[in-house]
Amino acid sequence: MSNTIRFEVAEDGIATLTIDVPDRSMNVLTPEFLGDLAEAVEKVAADDNIKGALITSGKKAFIAGADLKDLVTAHDRGVSVEEGYQWSQHLSKLYRRMETCGKPFAAAINGTALGGGLELCLACHYRVIVDDPKAVVGLPEVQVGLLPGAGGTQRLPRLIGLRESLPLMLEGRHVRPDKALALGIVNEVVAADQLLDAARRWLQGSPDAVAPWDKKGFKVPGGAGAMNPKSVETFIVGNALLAGKTQHNYPAPEAIMACVFEGTILPIDKGLQVESKYFAQLVTGVVARNMMRSLFVNKTAADKLVRRPKGIEPSKVSKLGILGAGMMGAGIAYVSARAGMQVVLLDTDQASADRGKDYSRKLLEKAQKRGRMTADKAEAMLGLIKTTTEYADLEGCDLVIEAVFEHRDIKAEVTAKTEAVIPETAIFASNTSTLPITGLAEASKRPQSFIGIHFFSPVDKMPLVEIIVGEKTSQEAIARSMDYVQQIRKTPVVVNDSRGFYTSRCFGMYPNEGITMLAEGVNPALIENAAKMAGMPVGPLAVSDEVTIELQYKIMAQHKKDLGDDWVKPSSYDAVTRFVEDLDRKGKRYGKGFYDYPEGEKKHLWGELGTIFPAAAEQPSVDEVQKRLLYIQSLETARCIEEGVVTEAVDADIGSILGWGFPPWTGGTISLIDTIGIARFVAECERLADAYGERFRPSPWLKAKAENNESFYGETAENARSAA
Ligand code: NAI
Repeated sequence: MSNTIRFEVAEDGIATLTIDVPDRSMNVLTPEFLGDLAEAVEKVAADDNIKGALITSGKKAFIAGADLKDLVTAHDRGVSVEEGYQWSQHLSKLYRRMETCGKPFAAAINGTALGGGLELCLACHYRVIVDDPKAVVGLPEVQVGLLPGAGGTQRLPRLIGLRESLPLMLEGRHVRPDKALALGIVNEVVAADQLLDAARRWLQGSPDAVAPWDKKGFKVPGGAGAMNPKSVETFIVGNALLAGKTQHNYPAPEAIMACVFEGTILPIDKGLQVESKYFAQLVTGVVARNMMRSLFVNKTAADKLVRRPKGIEPSKVSKLGILGAGMMGAGIAYVSARAGMQVVLLDTDQASADRGKDYSRKLLEKAQKRGRMTADKAEAMLGLIKTTTEYADLEGCDLVIEAVFEHRDIKAEVTAKTEAVIPETAIFASNTSTLPITGLAEASKRPQSFIGIHFFSPVDKMPLVEIIVGEKTSQEAIARSMDYVQQIRKTPVVVNDSRGFYTSRCFGMYPNEGITMLAEGVNPALIENAAKMAGMPVGPLAVSDEVTIELQYKIMAQHKKDLGDDWVKPSSYDAVTRFVEDLDRKGKRYGKGFYDYPEGEKKHLWGELGTIFPAAAEQPSVDEVQKRLLYIQSLETARCIEEGVVTEAVDADIGSILGWGFPPWTGGTISLIDTIGIARFVAECERLADAYGERFRPSPWLKAKAENNESFYGETAENARSAA
């Protein structure tokens, strides 16, 4: 036995297995742990003095799940489907052995139990969980393109029925103890100090416990199978909803449906084999690789600040200044106060500053109504936000974030006024969305402490923050900005200064392409639907309306002015200009754009679009529209890497998914290129350039990469590992 489980037997014959995987902050299902568990189960089974076993954890959480760092490399290592099947069967058989070895097992769930951790609990005969809302349980595998491959898809429906279990697995939802009890996932919720006693008491009184599905005459609660009307209804409706939501881009939820449908009409052991079969297909597939790599392994690494400059003391913001209490300033104030910082929110007049604070008040009221926050805590949080018009109040700030109007002169003025009062050591950050940081830093006396901290709207919901490094920005300013982003529990990506930085620049290609197609005479409904079918959250025309066509118009005008002779007219320029200047349809905020927004009704595409841009006689295929919309974003990202705006493929991928909702199944803009294969991607871009314009032309750098058969992730597995 290695040392991941402490095994103790008390006088009453109850063995306690305390899981405590060394050198890990959380218990995960490592090969060593599985070996130890197998040994412990056999010991319990063989020893007549042992009457039953209690499984708990020596850490704060119970078990966080499988070790994805191993699974993420499966596709790239060429793991076979047969091998993937055996992985799942190995674990499944171990849990099954525990369940059927003849001794009762109880899980004393002292904290979060997710994925393989909850599956272990489900294979126990009894489950007691601590009464702590933070101790959530769930099967979140779907979120990284997998399915619960250790019995989850078989035991959960057999325990709580198909209708209740499917949404939990299809959405990967976390469930709090009270809800877990109501659903029947756990048997008892008790105070922390009662946890082990409760499990022990049950074990003492249940020497002959058998899993419900091993009892004669067992029936799945609510019924299962093709002849059961309720189950049939669940699958017909469920499949339709799923197809609508995922557009068949995600194999995992479909596989979960199939496991539950096929598995629950079979005896459990056969059902477990069905599950392993589907698991193997997923784990060796490219979508799971993409999702595990970007959304878990590399996101976790980014959250742990892998790219933080080395050798700089960790820092913490105690007092934060925010200039401008508009939409962005108000959101930044909220997330910062939530993280416990003292916030000074400054605007030109007191009423505007107060309105900014009201935003937090409203969000906190909502949280209280939903039972997510106590009145005292909300009051304390609000108390952290001081509104003002006086620069003197910024004294003592560790960091000041500027979110005033997008105007160079106003930004320069507030920079100077702020620097006059803040400590020499403070960092000054701009939340500008378009103005290059190096230029803005010219207004600063300490350009080394001047940086871009670019939030996304709405700030309280969006998980990404883009940190922009100006020419003179110091390593310390980068490190401290990253520390701040970690403090507010968001994910940072660090990029170099460029027009539009990384995210705005690449995302901007999406509405541009959509509007270009519209102007070419492509049916607008085809454009919008093809985009959503590819997995973009919102169509390019709808998103243009959201950010306003006017804003795109202004940005283009600014670029034209700034770039002079180097300016290249964007392909959507004429259409955007026409909508703003001639048609006065400037976007959603103005009640009209590419869509109409009738009061109390759903928005719909403007009926006159076909008159303005008559439909082309020949319409492109859905596939062609999708290619144009996705490839142009990936190609622009590749350009950002070529120019050094983004230095790592990993950052580009995380930024694209978390920043603007690039479809997660792709793994991000760069993973999409690697998934297609760079040579194929380049060839397709050449074709698109010939057909639609030079913006699709791949650069010599990218072509050389294709000719050398390189990929962005190189030795993909290694890259993912080194980032972790
Ligand atoms: P907003 O117009 O909602 O708010 C700007 C606020 O700044 C107003 O409350 C205004 O009174 C205040 N202000 C103007 N001049 C000031 C001065 N001299 N001193 C103090 N306060 C002053 O604008 P929003 O949308 O919050 O944008 C702010 C900044 O954030 C801009 O630079 C914008 O480009 C950037 N940004 C905006 C995003 C968005 O989605 N709206 C996303 C990311 C960045």
